[in-house]
Amino acid sequence: MQVRDTTIAYAAEPAAITNELTLDELADYINNLKTVPTVEQVKQQFASLSLRQRDYESHRLFTDKKYARNLIARSEYAELLMLCWHSGQRTPIHDHGGSIGVILVCEGSLTETMYEFAPEGHVRPYNTFRWNPGGITGADVPDIHQLLNLQPDDKDLVTLHCYAPPLSVLNTFSPVSSRRRKWREGYVSGGAGI
Ligand SMILES: [Fe+2]
Repeated sequence: MQVRDTTIAYAAEPAAITNELTLDELADYINNLKTVPTVEQVKQQFASLSLRQRDYESHRLFTDKKYARNLIARSEYAELLMLCWHSGQRTPIHDHGGSIGVILVCEGSLTETMYEFAPEGHVRPYNTFRWNPGGITGADVPDIHQLLNLQPDDKDLVTLHCYAPPLSVLNTFSPVSSRRRKWREGYVSGGAGI
C-alpha cells in the first residue's frame, strides 16, 4: 500500500514490479464478489492499493456534526466506504454485528481502542493502537472497538473501510454500565437508492 502526497513527484517504477490497484478496481472487486471475503483477503486488496488524494477527492467529504461515512461501493457481500473525521470526532464503542471490518489509513493518524467484556457486563479497554498513513487494521467478528481522531484541532483524518457483509444493525457498549444499544448508521454521500 502506498499513500502518496500529490505535491511530491515520484520516479516512475517499472510496471513489471508494481502491484498497484486503483480505487475503481477495488470498487469492481467489491461489486463482483461471489462470497463474503475474509479479513486477510480484504487486507491483501488494501495492501495493493495505490492512492493519491485526487483519486478519492469525490469521496472526501466531512461534516462538522460528526464523522462522515461516504459510500464508494456496495454489493450483497461487502461495502467500501471512506470515512472523514475532523479532530475530536469518534465512533461509539461498538461491534460489527457479525461483519468483518478492515481499515486503511489514508491521511492523518487513527486511534483505535479495543474493548473486552468485564465480569459485570460492561466493557473495558485492553489495548490502544495508533495507525498512520498506509497502516491497515482488521477486525474479526467478535471484536469490539472505538475509532477516534485524537489529533490536534486542525488535523483531519481520512480512512478507507471495507465491511463484509455490509453493516446493518450494530451494538454499542458503555464502559460505565452493562447497557447495550442497537445502532444503525447512514451514509453522508453515495447512499442514494440504497
Ligand atoms: Fe468498527
